[in-house]
Amino acid sequence: MIIGVGIDLIEVARVQKAIERNPRFVDRVFTEREILYSEGKKSRFQHLAARFAVKEAFYKAIGQRIAWTDVETINLPSGQPQLILLAKNIYGFTRSHVSISHIADYATAVVVLEKE
Ligand SMILES: CC(C)(COP(=O)(O)OP(=O)(O)OC[C@H]1O[C@@H](n2cnc3c(N)ncnc32)[C@H](O)[C@@H]1OP(=O)(O)O)[C@@H](O)C(=O)NCCC(=O)NCCS
Repeated sequence: MIIGVGIDLIEVARVQKAIERNPRFVDRVFTEREILYSEGKKSRFQHLAARFAVKEAFYKAIGQRIAWTDVETINLPSGQPQLILLAKNIYGFTRSHVSISHIADYATAVVVLEKE
């Protein structure tokens, strides 16, 4: 049964400006794996913005905000993203689905949460 859905759309420039204004923003918001993944890519800010969108979409799906770094996006060898919840509370779901897209100016993410 689906128990939560969330979507978010963000301007890549907004995330880029936040990082350039305050370099600590990256460590405060993103996990080490998210930073490493994005740094290895040509359009670093697009990937970071997408991961930011996943966090916001997840908050919408559970109906509350939690620590930024408790919500992580990793990628399977195929490139498919997966949501990892690092918080103790699992917020009632047993399975999550995430999808990401980004272009030069915008990044978007959708999160679906299921309970068996
Ligand atoms: C996966 C695919 C749809 C990405 O589309 P795209 O338009 O290049 O890029 P988008 O910006 O829309 O999406 C990028 C995101 O897709 C996600 N993604 C990548 N591979 C994926 C996969 N196999 N399944 C689901 N999502 C995937 C990633 O989250 C990626 O963002 P990230 O790198 O920041 O995590 C594209 O690579 C594709 O068409 N794959 C189809 C399968 C295939 O291999 N086709 C080749 C046939 S010749």
